[in-house]
Amino acid sequence: MRNWARALAVSAALLMPGAHASEAPEPPDQSWSFEGPLGGHDATAARRGFKVYAEACWSCHALDHIRFRDLGGLGFADDEVKSLAAGYEVPAGPNEYGDIVDDQGLLFMRRARPEDPFALPYLNEAAARTANDGVFPTELSLIVKARRGGPDYLFAFLTGYTEPPPALDLAEGRFFNAYFPGQAIAMEPSLSDGLIAYDDGTPETVDQYARDIVAFLAWTADPHLNARNRLGLGVVAFLAVFFILLLALKRRIWARLD
Ligand code: HEC
Repeated sequence: MRNWARALAVSAALLMPGAHASEAPEPPDQSWSFEGPLGGHDATAARRGFKVYAEACWSCHALDHIRFRDLGGLGFADDEVKSLAAGYEVPAGPNEYGDIVDDQGLLFMRRARPEDPFALPYLNEAAARTANDGVFPTELSLIVKARRGGPDYLFAFLTGYTEPPPALDLAEGRFFNAYFPGQAIAMEPSLSDGLIAYDDGTPETVDQYARDIVAFLAWTADPHLNARNRLGLGVVAFLAVFFILLLALKRRIWARLD
């Protein structure tokens, strides 16, 4: 569908009296460095995106498949990773008596180390649900691949909070987001202009934060993309040279047979 037609369809659906949550519109196309056969991650954007995740999302959303030391892949130096990890706590496991909790019933914790997985925001799913109105904040490491529309959806979703259409009856604790399936979401808008400080002069806007966190989550979903594409390019270059050599060889052989 053309853009104007889509816009018209969405506004018509939203303006209809007594409209319920209607079908979510297609997310607009964005261009991403990691798309296409030669695409690669933009490590600078992804590092900013990590900062956004750490300051605005980590308190609710886990990244199960990522360890602190993986951040080296985005250009963080070893000692940066070490001090970053030390800013988080993970369960320490049993002490010499086999206890995992102290006499208050609280888990023994220790500072995280580079080889630890990213610290979990909640100790288990039940705790996560209790803190979020019964809804589980999705684990995000593969979200870019898991949703239809991928990065475009994620960007549209993160920038897609608006006032609900007047006719829509939103339940308590739910927010309107046109792009979220069902359009009523239990996650409050977690980005606002100026929320996270960037030290490289990049604009501190919701739009930019969303773009950067998509760059980061595209990396968590496929950290080896750049190496794979480089390898692919090497293979293609090798095959091209090999083909030329074979052609030359064939010509020589046939020249002799003439
Ligand atoms: C206060 C807790 C909280 C914070 C902070 C938070 N979220 Fe969420 N998020 C949730 C909850 C709860 C859900 C599930 C909502 C639902 O299903 O109604 C959710 C859902 C999502 C989804 C899933 C959408 C889908 O298609 O299923 C994504 C993606 C997401 N959050 C990304 C983020 C990002 C990125 C940030 C940081 C910029 C963030 N969230 C910050 C609680 C949070």
